Amino acid sequence: MAKLALFGFMLLALSNPTLAQKKIVCYISSWSVYRPGNGFFNTSFVDPNLCTHLIYAFIGAHPNGSVKIIDKSADISKNGFTKINKLRETNPSLVTMVSLGGWNEGSTTFSTICNDTSVRATFVNNLYEFVVEYGFKGLDLDWEYPAQRGGIPADKANYVSLIKELRAKFAPAGLLLSAAVSASASASATSTSYDVPALSANLDFINLMTYVFHAARDGKTGQNSPLYASSIDTDKRYNTNATVQNWIKAGADPTKLILGIPLYGQTYTLSSSSSTELGANVKGPGSPGIWSRQAGVFMYNEICSSMKNQTDWTEVWDAEQAVPCAYRSDQWVGYDNMKSVGIKSKYALDQGLGGVLVWSLDMDDFRNLCGAGKFPLVTALKANLVV
Ligand SMILES: *[C@@H]1O[C@H](CO)[C@@H](O)[C@H](O)[C@H]1NC(C)=O
Ligand SMILES: *[C@@H]1O[C@H](CO)[C@@H](O)[C@H](O)[C@H]1NC(C)=O
Ligand SMILES: *[C@@H]1O[C@H](CO)[C@@H](O)[C@H](O)[C@H]1NC(C)=O
Ligand SMILES: *[C@@H]1O[C@H](CO)[C@@H](O)[C@H](O)[C@H]1NC(C)=O
Ligand SMILES: *[C@@H]1O[C@H](CO)[C@@H](O)[C@H](O)[C@H]1NC(C)=O
Repeated sequence: MAKLALFGFMLLALSNPTLAQKKIVCYISSWSVYRPGNGFFNTSFVDPNLCTHLIYAFIGAHPNGSVKIIDKSADISKNGFTKINKLRETNPSLVTMVSLGGWNEGSTTFSTICNDTSVRATFVNNLYEFVVEYGFKGLDLDWEYPAQRGGIPADKANYVSLIKELRAKFAPAGLLLSAAVSASASASATSTSYDVPALSANLDFINLMTYVFHAARDGKTGQNSPLYASSIDTDKRYNTNATVQNWIKAGADPTKLILGIPLYGQTYTLSSSSSTELGANVKGPGSPGIWSRQAGVFMYNEICSSMKNQTDWTEVWDAEQAVPCAYRSDQWVGYDNMKSVGIKSKYALDQGLGGVLVWSLDMDDFRNLCGAGKFPLVTALKANLVV
């Protein structure tokens, strides 16, 4: 009997992610189904045992407080929503959530909804019904950002009201609530948008978007998601560690903080192919990748596949910032590889954080094009996270 009970406990420990391991929160961008060739991704590629949480991005909102379906074809007609939730049939402890907002959805609609108590109440009901209807286990709020990008100062308090009202509806039903938050380097940007203690008290976890610290807008090369500052940084706040410490100092419960890891790099077109160092002048973003088709972005699968195909890439490990960069001709990329994601998840563990998130699963080498196995980045970070 005792043996059986112990066995039962071990089984529980193995199958219950909160007991056995930290959170591995994997965002999936719904538009990855439109990428050409080997960039094409859909839920058939997802290993249901790899991540503890999957978050489908995105849904939006109408000003009247109804849920806006952003891509009816992918989400509804082709069953994007239901297919991600079906993965729980294979792994019942997998948590599937849906994310509301994102950069393109902007800030003003949320601002309008949340500044009116009755529209906000309608919104809360509609979100709850939406989540239940499609079988999600929770909602991730990704309002980018309260009181910024056209929002009003009252957004900060109204956001807390929205979260509390959602929580009152979601928690009794066993549904989770998280938020993706700006990792803006400045403490003032954090305090403009977020009442950190209130967010921490009322959310199940907080997804720190610790990336895009540097990009082509800077006019010089820089790392997308450095863990630590570089000695060339005049402002030492533009990195993951500074953001984490800033959120803890502002009152976040460390166990609710989820460290953001990008599975893509920021690319640059160098002003001169012979000036390839960190901080070198750039003309603008790098050329679009063949699958992401977006200037300035190189997904990890594009990076590793390009490096395999074209052997004249030079890779450099940036020891101060604990991330790699690489260059070839006039193209420069600052990114994350297996080594850097391992160091970051070890950091999350050492700091007692709740886990890590990746943006996004569909950018990893999910087809094993590069020979390190499927999902080499998520696998590497997971190896360093299991306690
Ligand atoms: C993924 O795409 C493939 C190829 O188009 C298709 O056969 C498969 O049914 C899709 N899977 C899902 C879950 O949509
Ligand atoms: C809310 O607005 C959307 C978009 O204009 C519209 O389609 C929907 O019918 C409206 N809902 C209600 C309940 O008025
Ligand atoms: C926000 O709501 C307050 C209180 O109802 C109101 O006074 C204010 O005009 C509203 N602001 C906007 C931009 O709608
Ligand atoms: C991490 O950030 C804190 C707060 O900004 C800073 O004091 C500390 O030196 C940083 N750690 C490293 C290794 O840079
Ligand atoms: C690398 O080469 C393979 C084989 O020709 C090709 O399928 C793949 O698309 C190439 N990768 C990139 C990023 O160009």
